Parts: sequence; C-alpha cells; structure tokens
Amino acid sequence: MALSVEGIFLILLCSLGAMAVAAREWDGKIVMPTEEGSKDPQPTEDGQRWAVLVAGSSGYGNYRHQADVCHAYQILKKGGMKDENIVVFMFDDIAHNRHNPRPGVILNHPNGEDVYHGVPKDYTGKNVTVNNLLAVLLGDKKTLKGGSGKVVNSGPNDHIFIYYSDHGGPGVLGMPTNPNLYADDLLKTFKKMHEAKTYKEMVVYIEACESGSIFQGLLPKDLNIYATTAANAEESSWGTYCPGMFPAPLEEFDTCLGDLYSVAWMEDTEVENLKKETLRDQYMIVKSRTSNHNTYKSGSHVLEFGDLKMKPEELDQYLGYDPANENVTGPIFLREYLAIRLGGVEERHINQRDADLVHYWHRYHKSKVGSTAKAEAELDLMRILSHRMYIDKSVDLVGRLLFGVEAGPTTLSAVRPDGLPLTDDWACLKSMVSAFELSCGELSEYGMKHMRAFANICNAGVEPSKMSGVAAEACAVSAFGSGTLQIPTTGFSA
Ligand SMILES: *[C@@H]1O[C@H](CO)[C@@H](O)[C@H](O)[C@H]1NC(C)=O
Ligand SMILES: *[C@@H]1O[C@H](CO)[C@@H](O)[C@H](O)[C@H]1NC(C)=O
Repeated sequence: MALSVEGIFLILLCSLGAMAVAAREWDGKIVMPTEEGSKDPQPTEDGQRWAVLVAGSSGYGNYRHQADVCHAYQILKKGGMKDENIVVFMFDDIAHNRHNPRPGVILNHPNGEDVYHGVPKDYTGKNVTVNNLLAVLLGDKKTLKGGSGKVVNSGPNDHIFIYYSDHGGPGVLGMPTNPNLYADDLLKTFKKMHEAKTYKEMVVYIEACESGSIFQGLLPKDLNIYATTAANAEESSWGTYCPGMFPAPLEEFDTCLGDLYSVAWMEDTEVENLKKETLRDQYMIVKSRTSNHNTYKSGSHVLEFGDLKMKPEELDQYLGYDPANENVTGPIFLREYLAIRLGGVEERHINQRDADLVHYWHRYHKSKVGSTAKAEAELDLMRILSHRMYIDKSVDLVGRLLFGVEAGPTTLSAVRPDGLPLTDDWACLKSMVSAFELSCGELSEYGMKHMRAFANICNAGVEPSKMSGVAAEACAVSAFGSGTLQIPTTGFSA
C-alpha cells in the first residue's frame, strides 16, 4: 500500500485515539498496606550505598527517559549520596539537542526545575552499552570499553539501587546501542554479584514496556534482591507530561517530559521521610498512581519480584535521606498529594511506544505550512510509520510461513502459563532475533514489542538456522507491500 500523508494521519489519529483514552474519575479508594507499618528508623550505615542509573534510549522523541534518569540522580544527591557512588548511563543528546527549547536544561515535570546540572557523564553516547553496564555492575574495570571507568566497587555490607528507564519488550530492555539487554544476561550478572558477595541487598526499579517479563520466572527469592517493574509481562508502560495530555508540559515542549511509573516513585520519594517510608509503602503508592488510580486506563500494572521479605525496610538505605522531610510522618497516600499537585483533574498519559509519535506529530502540527521544518517532520512521520508497518507485517509473515496461515498468528502471540519465563532457551532467542535482523534490518525500539513472537518460535522447537530463509522471504514481501524501499537499520528517534 502506498502511504499518502492523509493515510499517515489516519493511522496517526487512530493511535492518538487509542492512547488518549481518557482516564476515568478516580474512585477515591486508597489501598493501605495491610501488614505492619513502618519500623523505627534504624542506623543503616554499616555499609555504603551505590546506585546505577540507566537511560536506555536516545533521540529527542525519547527526552523523557534521560529526564527520568537525571531526576533520579538529583534525588540521590539530595539524599546525600556521593558522585563516586552513582554511575550514570545516558546518551546525553537531549540537553543540547537542536529541538530543546531550553538549551542546557532538562525538565522532568511541567513545573519542575532543571535536573541536568551536575549529572556525572560516566557512560554517554556510544559508551552506553550492555557490555559496560554489566561490567559496571560486576565492578569489572577490565571489561569496560570507554566511559569514565567508574564501577560499582561495593562490598558485602553495601546496598545497591538500580534504576532503568526506556523502551523494552518481552525479555529485553532497550539500549541506545546494539545489542539490547536480555533478561537472562541481567539475571546472570545478579547471580554472579551475589556469589561474589558484592552487596548485602539490592533494589531494582525498571520502567519499560513488558518489564514484568524481565523478572517473571527468572528472579529467585534468595538473592537479596527486591525488584519492581512499571508493567506486567504483556503490556506497555506509559509516558507522562506529554503535549496535548494532562498534565501537559509548557507549550514550547513537543515531547513527553517523564514516564508514569518513574515520576511516581521519584515524586513520592521527594515528599517523604525516607527514614520512615518503606519499600512496601512506596510500592503501594507507585502501584496506585501508575495504574491511573486503579482504573488501568492509560496506566499499567506495577509488579514486584524477588525477596519480598525486604519490603519492611526503609528506603533511606537505598535512596539516602533528605533532612528537609524530617517532619513528614507519612507515607503520603495519593488523594491529598495528587489533589495538591494536579488540582484534582484526571490524568492522561500515552503508552511508551506511541510517545515518540506524539513528538513527531506535534512537530509537524506546529511548523509552518511550506516550511522545511514541516517537510522534515512529515518525512520523519512517514518513515516511522512505514517502518512500523513493515516490521509488523514481516513478523506476521514469518509466523505464517513457519506455522501456517491459521496457526502462525496464534503461535506467535501465545503466552506461557503464569510464572513461567518468556523462554527457557535464551541463546535460541538471541540467534533467532539476529537471523531475522540479518534479513530484515534492526527491529529497533518499536520492533522490541515482537520479542515474544521470536521466543515462541524457539519454544516451538524451530532452529534459528531456519529463520534466515523464512525472514528473507517475508521481508522481501512486506518491504514491497508497505512501500518501504529502504530497510531502515537504525531507530528513528535519533
Ligand atoms: C567514550 O569513552 C571514551 C573514554 O573515556 C571517551 O574518550 C569518549 O569521548 C566517549 N565517547 C562518547 C561518545 O562519550
Ligand atoms: C521539624 O520540626 C522541628 C520541631 O518543630 C523544627 O525545629 C524543625 O525545624 C522542623 N524541620 C524542618 C525541616 O522543617
């Protein structure tokens, strides 16, 4: 099908319609934790705190992920953590991006302050790699390639906090460089760290689509790791503070400033006394806000994994302590908090995968008829949407070629019973994706949504060697069918 501008807008409007599903009125119920409340604050200074912050994307359309990570840095700093103990991964192409209306500044809230100042540039640009991230976690300086050389140099009494924000897909977290981070490699690294006794306890917060799949059936209870994810294994996570939604950024911004789960934990952290607030308290608060107050309209299911016995612990062990909140007796539950913050109006967000469409749409919409900027934005929109169609079509065709016209789609979309990981054969999954990409070009950010399809092809016993021929055939057809003449090799948000 040839893509006309009108066609594009029709598709875009459909996506906008889908993502703009208005949040229902919050029912006013506040779910309180049922178990015992906060313990008395206890001295926790028997070890050091460490943090690893990762923004997995690049490109102005993904502004929000780096904004999240910069904000997290400011929180840890305010909590008293030293730069030596905070390792930051971010592409660093936002603050001085030509589309940024406030050069040198990054915001993570419509009324927020700059969060960019002072952020250590440990691993930026091409140095933001899976290899470096895993090396940093393992404290393994020898394996690093580029970057500041800072690693988590921790011992058996230390507490580690890991926070990641980006696009993802079933079993995978995006990186701004190839390859992406597969769940099994992250989990293997955690197990090595546990064996090497490089921490006492660890907390991991992950914002990404299908992020529940990173830990489901994979994170053991006995590693002293407590993790929460923005979404379950089958749904998107959500961008927030997006143009045209509520709450919206200032007029000059045509990109989302934050992600819902991420700002939920950070904005909560900023108003709480972290010597009193527990992991459990924060989980409840973040879960409620990220679900759009239990409506799940433009919201997702925050899940928890790992060692749930850690939940009564206070957050200051991981995030530090800001004395300005010493008199908060808290945990501050949502009703009052949101009423102050949002004036009681319902929130609207956009799913992670369509958030960059909003950016391109607004750029198109705002630029003058006949201008270069408008032509540029239109071209970007056409490319991004035709690539999406091309990828969707190709994966669908691969399924039909492998399993038949009827069984193809159902096999690719099958979900294993609850509690099981995406696959038991991660090597197969990786080879399967590589074989596909060799014929069809990179899956890119959007294409990560199809990881479950590739996993299911492995689960059905198909050998990766069989993928190459099938993918070549499928992609030739869908490249023709979607009018994509060039197979794109990189993401479109850069
Ligand atoms: C990557 O790290 C090296 C070594 O620190 C540095 O010289 C280089 O500028 C970094 N590259 C980017 C893109 O930041
Ligand atoms: C907390 O309350 C005490 C006693 O009223 C007061 O002296 C102190 O300044 C307050 N701290 C903050 C940060 O407001």
